Parts: sequence; structure tokens; C-alpha cells
Amino acid sequence: MSTLESILKETRSFAPSDDFRHKATVSGMEAYNALCEQADDHYLSFWGDLARELITWKKPFSRVLDDSNAPFFKWFDDGVLNVSYNCLDRHLALDGNKIALIFEADDGEVTRVTYAELHRRVCQFANGLKSLGVGKGERVVIYMPMSIEAIVAMQACARIGAIHSVVFGGFSAGAVKDRIQDAGACAVITANESVRGGKSVPLKATVDEALANGGCETVTHVVVYQRTNGGAEWTEGRDVWWHKLVEGQAETCEPEWMNAEDPLFILYTSGSTGKPKGIQHSSAGYLLGAANSFRWVFDYKPNDVFWCTADVGWITGHSYICYGPLANGATQIVFEGVPTYPDAGRFWKMIEKHKVTIFYTAPTAIRSLIKLGGDLPKQYDLSSLRLLGTVGEPINPEAWMWYYEVVGGSRCPIVDTWWQTETGSIQISPLPGAVTTKPGSCTLPLPGVMADIVDESGAPVEPGRGGFLVIKKPFPSLVRTIWNDPERFKKTYFPDEFNGQYYLAGDSANRDESGYFWIMGRIDDVLNVSGHRLGTMEIESALVANPLVAEAAVVGKPHDIKGEAVVAFVVLKGARPEGEDAKKIASELKNWVAHEIGKIAQPDDIRFGENLPKTRSGKIMRRLLRSIAKGEEITQDTSTLENPQILGQLQEPVR
Ligand code: WTA
Repeated sequence: MSTLESILKETRSFAPSDDFRHKATVSGMEAYNALCEQADDHYLSFWGDLARELITWKKPFSRVLDDSNAPFFKWFDDGVLNVSYNCLDRHLALDGNKIALIFEADDGEVTRVTYAELHRRVCQFANGLKSLGVGKGERVVIYMPMSIEAIVAMQACARIGAIHSVVFGGFSAGAVKDRIQDAGACAVITANESVRGGKSVPLKATVDEALANGGCETVTHVVVYQRTNGGAEWTEGRDVWWHKLVEGQAETCEPEWMNAEDPLFILYTSGSTGKPKGIQHSSAGYLLGAANSFRWVFDYKPNDVFWCTADVGWITGHSYICYGPLANGATQIVFEGVPTYPDAGRFWKMIEKHKVTIFYTAPTAIRSLIKLGGDLPKQYDLSSLRLLGTVGEPINPEAWMWYYEVVGGSRCPIVDTWWQTETGSIQISPLPGAVTTKPGSCTLPLPGVMADIVDESGAPVEPGRGGFLVIKKPFPSLVRTIWNDPERFKKTYFPDEFNGQYYLAGDSANRDESGYFWIMGRIDDVLNVSGHRLGTMEIESALVANPLVAEAAVVGKPHDIKGEAVVAFVVLKGARPEGEDAKKIASELKNWVAHEIGKIAQPDDIRFGENLPKTRSGKIMRRLLRSIAKGEEITQDTSTLENPQILGQLQEPVR
């Protein structure tokens, strides 16, 4: 609550400059309000018109929305299109020589790829996949470094109608295996190694580990892009080098014409159980969301140089690297490396070098760069920038102000964009040529987004009061279902509490007197560590899978840079360890989690107890654990605690 209070005391506000407003696609509040009214009054034709304007259809749709089987909504469902055609082919006639991708490798080497070249590469790779027998509707797991090839792989899947499921390169073999199994993938596309911050990270070896010991028999092929000279273990008949696969393949590939509702991809994300959810997106509705939001929120102009620093392993990399920018024919940067290598000036140097005009990154990156060199941006010429964006977590007003003043030279609007893997595209964000911004607020919903904040009964709450963030009408880019689990989809996102009518985002939020949204955080057991969603239950299951561990509870605690850090309370099968023993086991368990899920899920802090605090009915008291993790004094009623004496143990950090 204290963060909320401080945020709501924020009085600074920044209107777009006249110059920015005049040139903007959505120019001024009147234009914004007119779009909102249009959406309010004619919801279906509002989306229908946009879908006709922004998507090239092979066969036009005759119906905008089919809600007869809510919440399994269908949009534009008798329309036929291909997403890759929309991202590539249709730009060729205009200007095939336009640069699509400016790839900068970890070591600074730059490769430029035109739309014509990208089209050629996607077609050849698509033909390669077909030659392996990958077909429409089949699932392909992509476990790749940030690279031109990662985008080619995604686009090639879209071209042949295969459903990709990208797994972030930082996830471990266990996580890769779970996703391959759940999706029933027929192929995995990977690289021998990735290179980040001057170090190589094995990827193929992780895939090998995931596929070893059975359980992934659906996978018949592993395609390996050779990124480094490092070798790779080889399974004959299964493994094939990328460069061999595309050799001699035709340079064109007729797109597979897809139904609007055919799944484009599955992306796994954490929820409140131990099992990640396969978020399934559609072809047309998703594309429309990505393309339109890119145009509105980033106020895209044909001569812009756009840079989204996300990894393609997350939804941000899907919508604002692979699909949104390409659907608009934009030029964008793709960066292999990390913001701190060779030094903390890397981002600023790249903005200067490539004359980036729109820069989109995460608050975590901003906070860590402030810490490592708050004055560094001043050493670079950042005058090409005209717009800045953030995504993934709330941004604290101090970081916002630094971003605005030091990076943006007090000249560039900031779009603080709220959205989720499930929403597919940005839902709440300033349109930069219209909406006045306030540091820490994602401001107002995009036109057509019926966002609201409600209480347990579904009634709207008054300004200044917290509640559940909901979206009251379905929209084209919304998740269609959870892969293999429609019941979970319904229960999680369209719960009975709201009569199954509202999309429940899983965030709590607050609105101020001017209707601006302020996101407070998750309402479920999901943490947001460095802008990455992690389920506490997932980390708990990983911990209890360790032979030493009897029980574990994971909570978050505020962290200056990461936003949130993971704290694990652990009960061992043996005696509670102390001193050197405790240190050794804590570090063993941290490595274990990194190996089971990935480094991003590693606890910062592990505490040992003889037991966990539970109510008499056996429920773990998580609220109490959160207070302990924060080092707060315990003011809560602990009289119902089965075992109050263990609080002291859990308050003791392992040193
Ligand atoms: C959080 C990332 C505050 C939120 C695109 C949401 C944000 C979760 C913002 C989704 C923002 C995202 N301000 N919080 N601008 N953007 N979030 O699925 O809790 O990785 O529910 O999608 O991140 O994370 P996801």
C-alpha cells in the first residue's frame, strides 16, 4: 500500500509537445476520444474496419465476432490469410530493398537484412522444414539465441502454418522438456551455442538433455543453427544443421493459407500452479493487435528505426520484434547481447550508432543502467530518439524521470505499456501524440479496450481504491485458450465471480481522479522478477524435487533493481542445517533451481526452518512469509499458527 500511496501522490505530468502532437498518427486528445467513441458505439465495425485496413486477406471475412461459445471467442473466423505473407511479401512490391533487420551481434558486428532478403531466407527455411515433414498445425519448439535466424524460424513456421512455441534461451533442460511434451512438438529449432556478454552458452546440449531419457518421442528432428565454432553432440537421423537444411531450397514458398482462427503460436507463461500455461494465440486477431498497437503506441513512421530490447522468448519479442514491426514494414534493431557488455554504455552507443528513433525496454534494465552509470548516456549523441517505451513491470517514478530527462533529453514522450502474454498486444498505454503522461502510470486504455477496475462482485470501484483489473469485452488479440486445457482457461480468465463475462488480468490496479490506471501488482502467486513472470509454485515444485527437501514455500520481496526477488523458505528431510552446512545446502539449492528451471528463477535468499508457518487447517501462511522476507516486524495475528516458534528460525538469513 505504501508504494501505491507514493505513486498516487505523483503530481508531475508531461503533455506531448506541439511538434510531436502535430506529426502523430493519433494527434491530440480529440482524436483519441473520437476513436474511443467509435469503439464504444460500434464495437464490431471498429475492429472490422481495422482488420480490413491493416491485414491483407486472401479471402475476406464476413463476420467480425462469433461469441456464441463464450469465452472461446472467434474473430474474423471465415477470413483466410497468412501472417508471414502480411509481414513480408506485401512489402516487397513497395520496397524490397528497405532494411528490415539491423542485427548487432554480441561482439558488435552488424548485419543488415532487407525485406527481400528476409523473405528469401524465410522461404528457404520454410521449404527446409517442409522437407523434414513439418506441416500445418504441427508444433515446433524454438530455443534460439537472439538472432536473425530466430525471426526466420518463427516466420517460417507461420508461413507453413506450423504452430511455434518459443522457449526463452535462459530456461533449462527441464523447462524445455515440459514445454516440448505439453505442446507435443515434432521438431526443435536451436543453435549450437548462444553468445552473451562475451561468453558462450550451450543450447544444443540443453536440448539434448531435454530429449534424453525418453518422454519426448514426438520430436523427430532437431535443426541446429551454427552460431559459434563450438561443436555439438550429434544424433544421426534426428539432428540436422540449419545451413545444410536450406542448401538448394527454392527461394520462394507459397504461403499456407490459414483460417483466421488457426493458432499462430503457443507461448508458455507462469500461473498459480506448478505447470506453466500454454497461451494459444490466433492468426488474424493476434496479428491485428500487434500491428495496430505498434502503429498507434509507437506512432510508427516509415523512416523510424525501432528497437525493442526484449528477447524473442517472451511475448514482447513476439509482438514487438517478430510480428508488429514486420507487419508494418518497419526497420528494427535485433540485439544479441546484454546491456552491460562490454560496458554499461552499450545501449546508448547502439542508439547513437544506428540512429534509433524509438527505444522500448524494461524498467529493470533502466534501473540497473542508472546504478551502473547514471551519467553515461550524456557521453553519447541520443538526439535521434523521439519516443521511449517501457514494459513488463511497474516503473518507479524516479527511474521514469531519469529515462525521460537523461535518455530522452526531456524531449521524448514515454509510453508505459501495460499488457500481458495473454493479451497479445498493448492494452493500456499513452498514445504519445495525445495523452499527457504521469511518471508511474500506464495512463489510459487504447481505443477499443474496455478496461476497468472492479471489486469481488464485479462492481466498478471508486477512483483511488484498488481492485481487480478486468477487460469487459473480448478483443481480437486476446488468448484463445490454454493449450490442452480449455477448462483452466475458463476458470483462470473468465471466472464465475464475474459471470464469466470479464477477462480477469490477474493484476490489481487503481485509478486516479483523471481515470489514469496505476498497476499495483499480481493478485495471484506470480512474481515479476526483472520483468519476467515466475510462478512461486513452479519454483516450489522444483525445490521439493530435490532429494534433500521436504517442503518449500516461495515468496517475493521488493528488490531495487529486479523489482522483485525470490525468497525460498525450505524444510529439509533431515535436521535444520546451521552455519557452514546451511550455507552449503543453500548454495546447492540455488544451483538446483537454476538447473531445473533456469537462472532467472534462482532464489536470492534461502531460509531454513524445522517447519513452515501453517494455520491449524494446514495452510501455509504466505502473507506472514512475505512479511518475514521483507524483514518487517510481525504485526499479524499469529495465534492460529500451529507452530509459532519456527518464525524465529525463518527470520534468520543464511550467511
Ligand atoms: C506486469 C509482459 C506494470 C503485469 C508484456 C502483467 C506491468 C505482467 C506492465 C505480464 C506495466 C506488464 N506496468 N506492470 N507497464 N506491463 N506488467 O505476460 O503484472 O510477461 O500482468 O507480459 O507483467 O507479464 P508478461
